[in-house]
Amino acid sequence: MKIVVIQGPNLNMLGVREQHIYGPMKLEQIHEQMKHFANENGIDIEFFQSNLEGEIVDRIQECLGDTHGIIINPAAYSHTSIAIRDALAAVQIPAIEVHLSNIHAREEFRQKSLTAEVCAGVVAGMGPFGYHLAMIGMTQIISEIQAAQEAEQQMQQQG
Ligand code: DQA
Repeated sequence: MKIVVIQGPNLNMLGVREQHIYGPMKLEQIHEQMKHFANENGIDIEFFQSNLEGEIVDRIQECLGDTHGIIINPAAYSHTSIAIRDALAAVQIPAIEVHLSNIHAREEFRQKSLTAEVCAGVVAGMGPFGYHLAMIGMTQIISEIQAAQEAEQQMQQQG
């Protein structure tokens, strides 16, 4: 099972930027914790961070063929990017969107996410722990998809 974690603009500044909103933890520390969970559960995991919309679109497209699930925090692009939304919809790989902060309790422009609308689920307002919750949710989603595929194969074999 392979999961790709995609982090949008300014998330490389975690631990420095607006600590009263995003907390003191650095992105590398969040990724270390995710790697630990992945290792313990036999999950292959890759991380990608970019401040550029097109690079995020490219990385989503590259998931085609070898990735079972995407965990994505598109950051500010959540609220603006039709291109990232279209890429997520195009690849048809289950995605979970994570926001460290509760975007629904913040400025009005943050309360709508264009990208969340094409995701299987959303975690918001749980801080770095939200990424852990997304990992658990993603393993469940992928297991359910694999079980459904196996059941379908069995049905076909039985004619
Ligand atoms: C964020 C929320 C966004 O509105 C903001 O632009 C970010 C971070 C979050 O994780 O809470 O950069 O995605």
